[in-house]
Amino acid sequence: MCGIVGYTGPRQAYPVILKGLKRLEYRGYDSAGVALLHEGKIDVYKKKGKVAGLEEMLVGKNLDANMGIGHTRWATHGEPNDRNAHPHSSSNGKLAMIHNGIIENYAQLKNELIKNGYTFTSDTDTEVLLNFIEYIQTNNDCGLEEALRIALKRVTGAYCILLMEQDNPDTIIAARKGSPLVIGIGKGEHFLASDASPIIEYTKEVVYVNDYELAIVKPDELILKNLGNEKVTPYITKLDMQLAAIEKGGYDHFMLKEIFEQPSTIHDCLRGRLDAQAGTITMSGVQEHIEQLKNANRIMIIACGTSWHAGLVAEYVIEELCRIPVEVEYASEFRYRNPIVNKGDVIIAISQSGETADTLVALDRAKENGAFIFGVVNAVGSSIARISHAGAYTHAGPEIGVASTKAFTGQLAVLMMMALKIANEKKTITAEYYQKLLLELNDVPEKVDAILKNAAEIKTIAEKYKDATDFLFLGRGYNFPIALEGALKLKEISYIHAEGYPAAEMKHGPIALVDENLPVVFVATKDSYHEKIVSNMQEIKARKGKIISIITEGDTISPTLSNDCFSIPPADELIAPLLSVIPLQLLSYYTGIAKGIDVDKPRNLAKSVTVE
Ligand code: F6R
Repeated sequence: MCGIVGYTGPRQAYPVILKGLKRLEYRGYDSAGVALLHEGKIDVYKKKGKVAGLEEMLVGKNLDANMGIGHTRWATHGEPNDRNAHPHSSSNGKLAMIHNGIIENYAQLKNELIKNGYTFTSDTDTEVLLNFIEYIQTNNDCGLEEALRIALKRVTGAYCILLMEQDNPDTIIAARKGSPLVIGIGKGEHFLASDASPIIEYTKEVVYVNDYELAIVKPDELILKNLGNEKVTPYITKLDMQLAAIEKGGYDHFMLKEIFEQPSTIHDCLRGRLDAQAGTITMSGVQEHIEQLKNANRIMIIACGTSWHAGLVAEYVIEELCRIPVEVEYASEFRYRNPIVNKGDVIIAISQSGETADTLVALDRAKENGAFIFGVVNAVGSSIARISHAGAYTHAGPEIGVASTKAFTGQLAVLMMMALKIANEKKTITAEYYQKLLLELNDVPEKVDAILKNAAEIKTIAEKYKDATDFLFLGRGYNFPIALEGALKLKEISYIHAEGYPAAEMKHGPIALVDENLPVVFVATKDSYHEKIVSNMQEIKARKGKIISIITEGDTISPTLSNDCFSIPPADELIAPLLSVIPLQLLSYYTGIAKGIDVDKPRNLAKSVTVE
């Protein structure tokens, strides 16, 4: 939610910021703006819409500046328009600020400021915080850094802010709580951003700023302090990310690139961990805590969205293989109810970005109750990765398309390996079945590759049904969460209303929707429930619904009931979700394209949901 970039150093700031904003656009694209220190003055340019619109507006302007900040917005307070776009300027025009997060007590601060004569030009919480800082600075006759520290003690909510001051021409002051901030360390220059993607082409050395820290950033100096004004030693990390990983690499869209990357991202996830021939799984995070994991009274999985769906698959797999009770919780619900978390419980947090606000706060709550937290995270060095007691990265590489695809299969691969390792240690699985599943997991990249070779078949199906107004996705057992995931993908990428349901549950309500206009997608690969789901297909066919089925190669019955069929290679039912989700990702992609939607940036969404 919102992407922020800052630069101070000898280069021209604007091109660095513009390129960075384009890379961060997945975080929000309601408006974009920059503030540049030009000839001793702060110039602010901002515009509703995507970064390209800002770029177009600025063609031909004199943007000569060696320091600046830029923002791409996902609107929270105030509708997306030019006025509410960031950066905001303070009342006296001497400060400019960008913000990612929400200031919860902004109304109270605003009232205080109004009483003191302040007026506002936007509807944002950001302008309130900025003027509050200016107010403290003027009233206390202090420097910006001190004013910021005082202001932040009064603020509730989440923020990552970058501030620049007209009278301090080479310094950016930053602060974070709850929203991410990475600082890239160059030679005589510094880069600031919401994630490392705007930074990697300039330097591999970065510092991840922690909550409640302030950074005072000049071209050749980086000072970190806590809110108590004590210096904190910056911990420098080497980025392990390649530039190619964040570019489209010849594909039309990031989403398509990321779908097609899955044979290699799943392979990367398994590599060095799974040795199918030797029958071993090496995961240091699991091994170091194996007693805790195998003796867990209960596992609670906390996540949002697609990651929550990966959690549902894991629930089925862990209960089956490890015989440990599992509950899967929406982070946003968990954090506000009064959940029972006991010492012997293990929490598994699943997150692509590692920054999802609801998941982060839910984990804090669980930690307070003494739970052990295991993070399954994609973004290396992210907040969730850092607050977890142990974890395993999914190694899917940067995911830029707003819809999660390769991160999901990475999550499934990690969770499968975890379940297999724990089950093998607990002896709740036979040696033969363990070995069989290891070999099958090892074959997944090759099978995904085979599915992708037939992507054109899905494109044809997508074009046929693109004008439908509703879709139903049905699955049973391990494929039930995949039905949910298929529906979510279609909704977000094509704007078609879609619902995912357990196939048998359909009789208890959704069947009323079925008529000759309703496409019903069955995730019906060969498993122990196959005959049951075939009966469910009969029920839909009898009511003239249009059946699209994802089936296992060699299935001769389902095609006779289906209007359209897509076959995937055979796999054990526990492994099948890693395969059956691929055609559903393609279905949503090609439907979105057929409808002319910007699939990488669908309306109203943002990749990294850092507000609750
Ligand atoms: C859907 C999607 C979202 C995310 C959710 C959680 O395609 O991407 O539903 O899965 O916002 O995000 P992470 O995994 O970053 O915590």
